[in-house]
Amino acid sequence: MLEQYKELRIRAGYVIRPAAVLAPMAGVTDTVFRRLIRGFGGCGLLMTEFTSADGLAKASHRTRRYLHFQPDERPIAAQLFGANPDTLAQAAALCEELGFDQVDLNLGCPAKKVVKCGGSGLLRDLPQLEKILRRLRAAVKIPLTLKFRSGWDDNSIVVRELGRLAEDCGVEAIALHPRTRMQGYSGQADWRLIAELKQTVGIPVIGNGDVNSPEDAERMFAETGCDAVMIGRAAASNPWIFRQLADYFATGAYTQPSEEDRHQLIRNFCRRLAASDDPEALGKMKQFASRFTHTVRGGAQLRKAIYQSRRPEEVLEQVEAFFAGEAHADSVRSGTDQQPAAVAH
Ligand SMILES: Cc1cc2nc3c(=O)[nH]c(=O)nc-3n(C[C@H](O)[C@H](O)[C@H](O)COP(=O)(O)O)c2cc1C
Repeated sequence: MLEQYKELRIRAGYVIRPAAVLAPMAGVTDTVFRRLIRGFGGCGLLMTEFTSADGLAKASHRTRRYLHFQPDERPIAAQLFGANPDTLAQAAALCEELGFDQVDLNLGCPAKKVVKCGGSGLLRDLPQLEKILRRLRAAVKIPLTLKFRSGWDDNSIVVRELGRLAEDCGVEAIALHPRTRMQGYSGQADWRLIAELKQTVGIPVIGNGDVNSPEDAERMFAETGCDAVMIGRAAASNPWIFRQLADYFATGAYTQPSEEDRHQLIRNFCRRLAASDDPEALGKMKQFASRFTHTVRGGAQLRKAIYQSRRPEEVLEQVEAFFAGEAHADSVRSGTDQQPAAVAH
């Protein structure tokens, strides 16, 4: 097995196995989704959606929800964003109290609303970032990590500077999504910057960006020398990806989920959301359906039915009807929307 993949050693007594991390994704990586991922196996570390430190300071009930997790999610990191050292320090202390294993600072979010109060905005203000990191470091005993984009734009890449600063302030691992703030999600992640960061710092480096398959993960490890890979969007549409990585690194091959696996997944996900008290459950089901059903035979029909549903229970009924029903059988017979059932690589 590839040595790098086996484990991510953040500090003595805190080792992530395997070295594969679920990227934080607002609106996606809630407790229900994270537990699905953990259930499939192969994901060493889960992370919460980013959570506003200012929101927590206002004791916002809604913000606090983002920090809800179950014991079987551990090891889990709480991700925070903000620009105020005091509220960030308070928020980090709260995360420690709630039992998180790690606290992570977001320096990547490109959204305008977030940039004004942290996120990738801090990439342009390293002196303020230093104040924040020192306060955060003093506020918690659990590992402190950071996730960042490579810079504000192509003319202000801060990978080396920021890496050195973070290490100097006691940050214990650092994840890089090597696109700039201005780039958004366009173009390709520049993995050479991950290699550059790895050469600059002594702390573990987690590579992120455009890992869509086990082969991509293998290539990222090889090309950058990173200590772990972090996967975001690919996991949102293929929650089996971490399992596939584990199989691939153990045996050199992996399979694609069967139609029945997909049925079980969407049913499980919708059931768990329906049973949760998440006020956004219906919206999340619709989002998940749109990401996930592209790989389901006849998925367009299912998407339409889900979009028209008005209650979470109705979504569940539509899912069951679809998989049991004529529509599915018809599309299987006619071979539309076909996906290979199992592919070995
Ligand atoms: C819907 C969505 C929400 C995201 N939310 C967050 C977030 O809350 N915190 C964060 O650090 N990055 C966030 N990201 C960025 C991802 O964590 C990741 O860095 C990015 O998607 C690149 O990795 P990928 O190519 O594997 O998707 C988000 C990305 C997406 C697509």
